[in-house]
Amino acid sequence: MNELLSVFKRCGIAPAEYRGGTLTVHSPIDGAQLAQLHETPASQMTDIIAGSTSAFSRWRNVPAPVRGELVRLWGEELRKAKHDIGYIVSIEVGKILEEGMGEVQEGVDICEFALGQSRQLCGKTIVSERPGHRIMEQYHPLGPVAIITAFNFPSAVFAWNAALALVCGDPVIFKPSERAPLSGLATFKALERAIARFGDKAPEGLAQIVIGKAPLGEALVDSPSIALVSATGSTRMGRLVGPKVASRFGKRILELGGNNAMIVTPAADFDMALRAILFGAVGTAGQRCTSLRRLIVHRSVKETLLQKLLTAYAALRVDNPLKPGTLVGPLIDEDAYKAMQKSILAAKEQGGKLLIGGKRVLAKDYPSGFYVQPAIIEMPEQTAIVRHETFAPLLYVLTYDEFEQAIEVHNDVPQGLSSCIFSNDLREVEFFLSAAGSDCGMANVNIGPSGAEIGGAFGGEKETGGDRESGSDAWKQYMRRTTNTINFSREMPLAQGITFG
Ligand code: UN1
Repeated sequence: MNELLSVFKRCGIAPAEYRGGTLTVHSPIDGAQLAQLHETPASQMTDIIAGSTSAFSRWRNVPAPVRGELVRLWGEELRKAKHDIGYIVSIEVGKILEEGMGEVQEGVDICEFALGQSRQLCGKTIVSERPGHRIMEQYHPLGPVAIITAFNFPSAVFAWNAALALVCGDPVIFKPSERAPLSGLATFKALERAIARFGDKAPEGLAQIVIGKAPLGEALVDSPSIALVSATGSTRMGRLVGPKVASRFGKRILELGGNNAMIVTPAADFDMALRAILFGAVGTAGQRCTSLRRLIVHRSVKETLLQKLLTAYAALRVDNPLKPGTLVGPLIDEDAYKAMQKSILAAKEQGGKLLIGGKRVLAKDYPSGFYVQPAIIEMPEQTAIVRHETFAPLLYVLTYDEFEQAIEVHNDVPQGLSSCIFSNDLREVEFFLSAAGSDCGMANVNIGPSGAEIGGAFGGEKETGGDRESGSDAWKQYMRRTTNTINFSREMPLAQGITFG
């Protein structure tokens, strides 16, 4: 605990902030109380949003490469605080320290990406059908951006969105998950330090944080002043947020549930597949939206692969994530544990055979910590429960005979986030990547479905939401595009050859 208090101090989180408030934060490691944060009163939301709107009118006029300097400084602050924020993530969410720090590294990476992007916010020049005319595109700042994040990536997902929004000229209002507000707060404090170093070109209200529960998020979702709502979480949450934002014609980025699969064909490198399955299915205790949930394996290689997998699962170290050597920490809370048990029961009812795991462990040492032995269930077919995302280390194994059948099963789920194939057969690989192959937003070859780099666009199709964040051209969503047609001739020809009068 003393260690945590020094970490808070180094991260700039003051005792007055973490004591005496109404939002109690517990560690999933042992249930210990970590903080009592002060919730933002809902009555303040109007002023907070107004502050963002007024910051926008100044920030949009700061040249983009100068805005880039702010995220460069933020990246520096995150680098310095990598261990401390990683430690908070670990204590607050239950990730092993390595993964907690990896998350902060994603923040550093996106700041560097956004810095480069700040000099590349460019549109196209397009030829006109009319003589003496030219068409061009410009990207202008969009407006205040609300960032609503989930517990499982409490630092990185804020950074993905905020780094791009800030270089694009947009102020941000951050609502971290009420289950992991400390990691968000620590990441936000690093941004505040960067803003202080950046100086007075950063307007008041450029970056704000609101701490609390759903009503705060609702105020952001409902406000016509919030130009873009970027929300990460369950499909259930997306179904509420999406239509509300759409009804006021706001923009949105939704990053919702996944049900990510791996196809293992007879042409796979099995040792590589095995390592990828392990990290994908049990890393972060199966609580990534990119976690591996379905293994679709060819009948001829199933037994061999399963034997290796079961041996590896039996040796997994499930323990306190701060202990060196631990690979799997606790689930976020009791509800997550119950949801996992419910899914295991349903899978058994639907003909599944539990091959390993599923039980709660370490209950004596940590009566308030919900540690589970990662589970593998072999299913006779892709039943209702397999089509459902369970946020836990629960891997379903499905068998296929024909390659086409594997693809069919792969795509026959409501979600479409990430996917992968293990094969060294060019035909299989290219088919998987083709228009008729994986229908997900991310399709990988010979690597697992999780652990994406920030350089690519992150997101998925179908119930995953259809949007993208992080790398590639995801920045465009944080800007408004104008198409400009310029006439430098002395004539007034109309498009489509229309003669008028
Ligand atoms: C998430 O689970 O919401 O690709 C984000 C990954 C990480 C990000 C996951 N880079 O697994």
